[in-house]
Amino acid sequence: MSSSAPPPSTRGILRDRYGRVASDLRISLTDLCSLRCTYCMPAEGLQWLRKNERLTDDETLRLAAVFVSLGIESIRLTGGEPLVHPTLVPVVARLSALRPRPELSLTTNGIGLVASAGGLVAAGLNRINVSVDTLDRDRFARLTRRDRLPDVLAGVAAAADAGLRPLKVNSVLVRDGNLAEAPALLDWALCSGYQLRFIEHMPLDADHTWSRAEMVTADEILDIIAASYDLAPRGHNGHAPAEEFDVLDGPAPQRWATRPGRVGIIASVTRPFCRDCDRLRLTADGQLRTCLFAQTETDLRGPLRAGASDDDLAEIIVTAVAGKQAGHGINDLGFVQPVRTMSAIGG
Ligand code: 5AD
Ligand code: SF4
Repeated sequence: MSSSAPPPSTRGILRDRYGRVASDLRISLTDLCSLRCTYCMPAEGLQWLRKNERLTDDETLRLAAVFVSLGIESIRLTGGEPLVHPTLVPVVARLSALRPRPELSLTTNGIGLVASAGGLVAAGLNRINVSVDTLDRDRFARLTRRDRLPDVLAGVAAAADAGLRPLKVNSVLVRDGNLAEAPALLDWALCSGYQLRFIEHMPLDADHTWSRAEMVTADEILDIIAASYDLAPRGHNGHAPAEEFDVLDGPAPQRWATRPGRVGIIASVTRPFCRDCDRLRLTADGQLRTCLFAQTETDLRGPLRAGASDDDLAEIIVTAVAGKQAGHGINDLGFVQPVRTMSAIGG
């Protein structure tokens, strides 16, 4: 009887010159979005990709398989808004058939989740992050330029009911927008059993309105929250960008779903975590970005369409990863915002 040897370990192939190993891939399925958040997009939207510029699902799956063969263990689907992608559910099903099976997650604005949450879970989705910046309908309409808060909240509830727990909620805080609502957002999340993470606004907006003086910092957020809540730091969970806190006490904690509760802060600007970065990003037009803030990208669509083999693609990816920059450099004097905006990278 012959015993088959275990497959060679792929862990460590995607290593950069600083010793970081990439294990998380974020795939932007589309640059289109159902909202127009003021801190992200202009009212009129952006110059969208043409159909032939976007990867087909077959092309996305082919590249995903190569990434998985190189040691990628988790894949997050993003946009724009991934629920706008008409074949999102089949894409999830096909990704979940890859071996070794990657963990699958989705970052979404929640619009359309009521209809698709059950199908996504059945297709193999493991985790979800929904962006909710405000619980006030008028403010939501101003902030996103669309009156869709009820759809978003129904979507969040549908995802939790479908089993996507612990459900994570992302909130970007903007000084003249929703900053004062931070404690109310936390109360809602604690009572609903969602894990809220406040995100510092990064210089990736289309309008180039980001300013260091205006951005809300992690220190400020913590001061505001700590005025009403008793927090105990837990640090980072592995390579996760969020700095986490147990919420030990606060207003009427008997209403919370669990006690202690949990809250996180993603302080990309003031407390960078680049040294622990394990992420890669694939844009909807097939460009590999080794950093959110990279000034250069590696074209995978061109070689793919020109007939490159899986080995050829793997070599291009390994070389690109090896050259990953040390950090985002936002705090450096010569920092230049990348041309591609958040919605075209996927977060
Ligand atoms: N800085 C930080 N977060 C942003 N998002 C969109 N634009 C920015 C930015 N410039 C958030 C969205 C969503 C996630 C994909 O990224 O609100 O939660
Ligand atoms: Fe808002 Fe996200 Fe859409 Fe940008 S991509 S407009 S942040 S929902």
